[in-house]
Amino acid sequence: MNARAETIETIAATAEAGAAGGPLIRLRGIRKTYGQGQAAFQALKGIDLDIERGDFVAIMGPSGSGKSTAMNTLGCLDVPSAGDYLFRGIAVQKLSRDQRARLRRKSLGFVFQGFNLLARTSAQENVELPLLYRGESAAARHEQARAALAAVGLAGWESHTPAELSGGQQQRVAIARAIVTRPEVLLADEPTGNLDSQRSREIMQLLWQLNDVHGITVLMVTHEPDMAAWARRVVRFVDGRIASDRRNPRPAGLDAQTAPAAPEFDDTPALEASAAGAA
Ligand SMILES: Nc1ncnc2c1ncn2[C@@H]1O[C@H](COP(=O)(O)OP(=O)(O)OP(=O)(O)O)[C@@H](O)[C@H]1O
Ligand SMILES: [Mg+2]
Repeated sequence: MNARAETIETIAATAEAGAAGGPLIRLRGIRKTYGQGQAAFQALKGIDLDIERGDFVAIMGPSGSGKSTAMNTLGCLDVPSAGDYLFRGIAVQKLSRDQRARLRRKSLGFVFQGFNLLARTSAQENVELPLLYRGESAAARHEQARAALAAVGLAGWESHTPAELSGGQQQRVAIARAIVTRPEVLLADEPTGNLDSQRSREIMQLLWQLNDVHGITVLMVTHEPDMAAWARRVVRFVDGRIASDRRNPRPAGLDAQTAPAAPEFDDTPALEASAAGAA
């Protein structure tokens, strides 16, 4: 293990030990300015937000209100211009680029509207990709990718390329790819944006299960009230600020018939640990 990797392991361990009572995510005074001088634009104007382990948060608000900018910050894909971001007590802004990338690979999973799957590559290989970046053995990659595909209801579809799958199935592959590393947090920016209402519902049901059964914390941007109804909490952005933050007294998933989770995927220690942490 190199020195940097060691540093982040130490930071993570310290944070884990010390932050047992703290929120999983804490944003304080987060600002993001794009451009400089005359052309400068403040996309985030001071965001304070705490997110607990096991929560399912929908982020809503008008186009241009800063939702994706906030998601990029939360996902450690971009750094804020000012403010503090604590992930499990770790001050993200104090990490080096490499350390942030490591935190991202270890703890976060991403799903985007456009799927971002490799076109001439099978579902199985698309899902294996994050494990390849992690340097896992071929055998481990095969097994974990198969389990993740099974968990999203795509057992038997492993060899299909994206062109041979429906939009809903492609989005499931993207979700399998996001969860194959067993992240603590799943970040989804308009995960149903390209799907019809039936497919959207299925994707929401899947996100609900990942949250409710596997204990994965879900942060999801959506424009659609029907989709936000699945979340446990709805945060609304207006003009770079949080305009409202409400708990949903009855998330839609509680009323939906949820299929039992795939047993192979249920056995993973990381998921058991995060589910236990959420309970
Ligand atoms: N890389 C960038 N450079 C300059 N301005 C940017 C950049 N990214 C976003 N912005 C601006 O920041 C503001 C917030 O953008 P953001 O993408 O966060 O909005 P959003 O709430 O996700 O909108 P939408 O619902 O349309 O996806 C917008 O006015 C946008 O033009
Ligand atoms: Mg956006």
